Amino acid sequence: MNTMEINKIVAGVICAVLLVVVVGKVGSALVHPEELEAPVYPFSEDVMAGANAPAAAPAEPAGPEPILAMLASADMGEGEKVFKKCASCHDVEKGGPNKTGPNLYGIVGAAFAHKDDFSYSDGMANHGGTWGFEELNEFLYKPRDYIDGTKMSFGGLKKAEDRAAVIAWLNTKSDNPVALPDPAAVEAAEAVDQAADAVEETVDEAAEAVEGAVEEAGDAVDAATAQ
Ligand code: HEC
Repeated sequence: MNTMEINKIVAGVICAVLLVVVVGKVGSALVHPEELEAPVYPFSEDVMAGANAPAAAPAEPAGPEPILAMLASADMGEGEKVFKKCASCHDVEKGGPNKTGPNLYGIVGAAFAHKDDFSYSDGMANHGGTWGFEELNEFLYKPRDYIDGTKMSFGGLKKAEDRAAVIAWLNTKSDNPVALPDPAAVEAAEAVDQAADAVEETVDEAAEAVEGAVEEAGDAVDAATAQ
């Protein structure tokens, strides 16, 4: 092979390299690749860790939706209508009788098992405490889950609007209706709760990061002293 031919080969290779570079430059000048802000498949570290971990326990079944913020604007006519589902077992008039269930006049703010002349289940009789809006919300969502062995054979009110309406209406059936929570105050309290949760999460993450760093440093020291 003479020098002429070697020169041609070298020139060819240089041309090829130049061509690749130029095409690359022109290509990225024409098409602006954009960095994704977040990965398209949002695998968080938790998920990646979860992939190797034993199956996590199923999430807690969601409880009833909160109703506090809905009470002030609850529709009384709706509440009275919802109470038709309860009326076969409960009278709600002052001085009215117990039926299959106890009379419910004045139930909001009353003690659990508030009637002396009604024979309650042990779970209800021994519960203690008073029927606030939140207790009623939980109980009416799923009575059997809230009071072990309750005698109230009623599936529950699954719709938050129904629970809010009937609870707000029951509150009017009382000598001393309980003041309804101010929705703005409820929202503020919820915001505080959420902020507290966020702080807790951040602190947990930081603690985990520190723990990991300490562990790594320990390993590094071990490795250094072993040499
Ligand atoms: C099939 C009958 C039945 C229906 C329907 C029913 N209840 Fe009851 N309820 C009972 C019985 C029985 C008890 C007593 C439960 C116990 O002792 O465990 C009770 C207890 C209660 C209590 C606790 C009373 C207290 O003194 O502590 C509340 C509050 C209540 N019911 C509200 C309702 C509302 C509101 C509805 C309708 C959405 C409803 N119930 C539907 C039978 C019923």
